[in-house]
Amino acid sequence: TSVALAFSGGLDTTVCVSLLQEEYGYDEVVGVTVDVGQPESEFEEAKETADAHGLDIHVVDAKDEFAELCFDSVRANATYQGYPLGTALARPVIAEAILEVAQEEGCDALAHGCTGKGNDQLRFEAVWRASDLDVIAPVREMGLTREWEKQYADEKNLPVQAGNDGVWSIDTNLWSRSVEGGDLEKPGHVPSEDIYEWTEQPGSETECIEITFEEGYPVALDGEEMEPVELIETLNELAGQYGVGRTDMMEDRMLGLKVRENYEHPAATTLLNAHESLEGLVLTKDERDFKTTVDNEWAQKGYEGLVEAPLMAALDGFIEQTQTKVTGTVTIKFEGGQARPVGRESEYAAYSESAASFNTETVDGITQEDATGVAKYHGFQTRIANAAFESAQKE
Ligand code: ARG
Ligand code: SIN
Repeated sequence: TSVALAFSGGLDTTVCVSLLQEEYGYDEVVGVTVDVGQPESEFEEAKETADAHGLDIHVVDAKDEFAELCFDSVRANATYQGYPLGTALARPVIAEAILEVAQEEGCDALAHGCTGKGNDQLRFEAVWRASDLDVIAPVREMGLTREWEKQYADEKNLPVQAGNDGVWSIDTNLWSRSVEGGDLEKPGHVPSEDIYEWTEQPGSETECIEITFEEGYPVALDGEEMEPVELIETLNELAGQYGVGRTDMMEDRMLGLKVRENYEHPAATTLLNAHESLEGLVLTKDERDFKTTVDNEWAQKGYEGLVEAPLMAALDGFIEQTQTKVTGTVTIKFEGGQARPVGRESEYAAYSESAASFNTETVDGITQEDATGVAKYHGFQTRIANAAFESAQKE
């Protein structure tokens, strides 16, 4: 019997390799590491840990596919309680890739190292339970704690996630880096600078860049066209230098638990800000208002890892329609940890400078005076209602 394990080289999945053999009795564990843009060092760690186990690992490159999903989330202005959906959107991509390997290798089961407290178990299993393979969650089923895992790894001489000695649970991909656990579990604990790897402490330097969008998709930086993966990587590097994209928050997980989360997401913050600013130029107020509702639903489903939900396809239909106009260029200024839109241009601008300007008198035959009638009516009903209320109260 064999089981395909979502393997990252981190503490949870490292411990799972042994447990699947010793406690669950599988003859073979097939480790699958899916590349969604984690740093090179994580693959080296995964490789090292796999070697120590005598485990063969399959590495699946899903960067392009993941980057495209991240860009879909830009078109939906998607954040959950303020955090760009890095971890959330990566899960269905990873789960799908592992399922494919498991089917090719003829595995009997699928396993992940998620806890029974988090979101990731739900996101993985939403994909996996559509197959007829068994699903195994050793950490959840055996009720393991991180302390227990560290001790177990020590006893078995298993290499443990470098750098932080397994104290923090870190999840990294192209779109975000998440750090949780250890002293960060106390909401009042002020984290030290060393939890951050992608972002510098914001300083006083500033820089402007131009981001070009085509139909809502980012396509170029300062006029240089780039593929999604390269564009995100370049922007993470650049915006990170200015301390852009740190989030320190209380997050409401799907199970209802609140957790303290720390994230870094320089490229995501920059692209989301730029995109929304361009929409502000080209979409009508009606479209913007309604899109806020659509975007919130998209982000909610994205957070839940349900990118295949029928609702998503329906929302995408609306988004697709609006994005035909979201073509243009936004200037972003990196400043004091912010990525602030400071200029935007588009052929599709739903904006008339002559109509809005204080310096023109007549546009399309409309003069300032024509607003007098509108101004007389504005608030008319409020005046009637308030007068009626006042006189009724007096009697
Ligand atoms: N709570 C976040 C989410 O559900 C991130 C979890 C990241 N996982 C981790 N082991 N740090 O999207
Ligand atoms: C976990 O609990 O396994 C990681 C965090 C999460 O899934 O939300």
